Amino acid sequence: MKIYLKIWRQKDASSKGKMVDYTVEGIEGDMSFLEMLDILNEELISQGEEPIEFDHDCREGICGTCSLQINGRPHGPDTRITACQLHMRSFKDGDTITIEPFRAKAFPVVKDLIIDRSAFDRIQQAGGYISVNTSGNTVDANAIPIEKDKADHSFNAATCIGCGACVAACKNASAMLFTSAKVSQFALLPQGRVEAADRVLNMVRQMDIEGFGNCTNTGACEVECPKGISLENIARMNREYLSASIKG
Ligand code: SF4
Ligand code: FES
Repeated sequence: MKIYLKIWRQKDASSKGKMVDYTVEGIEGDMSFLEMLDILNEELISQGEEPIEFDHDCREGICGTCSLQINGRPHGPDTRITACQLHMRSFKDGDTITIEPFRAKAFPVVKDLIIDRSAFDRIQQAGGYISVNTSGNTVDANAIPIEKDKADHSFNAATCIGCGACVAACKNASAMLFTSAKVSQFALLPQGRVEAADRVLNMVRQMDIEGFGNCTNTGACEVECPKGISLENIARMNREYLSASIKG
């Protein structure tokens, strides 16, 4: 396939960016989207040009770093997959594809397609953990009975990979789906109840400090989330927040 690309190029955080046109040839349907970018970069390097910077690590849908806005959609046209799992068979010969970084004030562009998602790290640090007594009398987690339904919902929330697609999909750049997944994975388990009130208050406070917008229930985040994180988590976080605020 011959593919026409319009890619966001930006030298650094303080420079103005712009879309630049490229063409790649010899692209096969079984190639991944990132392999297609690798081929383009090899060509750019061989021509003495600067390669396009983009984030990636696992290339297996696990790490959440491949944050690309492809044809206006976070992670591209397919559902429930990350950009690294997208294959070129989703496109056809002669297609034009636009590739931009995720857009949000709280995710500033570092270079080209790479954004700074450390705001998510700071939300995690504000409460995405449990304090465990390691004095030697720690109870084995498996010794605490947990209802299957709750364990399943907690596990599903824990599959959030922190990619930021929910923020990129939201017209308000809200991080409610991400934060609610992190709150929910602990709130549903007995081990997480001990610090539940402080956790939700601190994580929501940090989310606001980072400059993410408010949730207006459009549901775009759930549609674009590669891990199928449910809006139920936002409802749970709101209940947790209300109850913690009243107690506090
Ligand atoms: S909730 Fe979904 S879209 Fe948002 S960061 Fe987690 S995995 Fe990515
Ligand atoms: S590179 Fe790790 S999820 Fe895409």
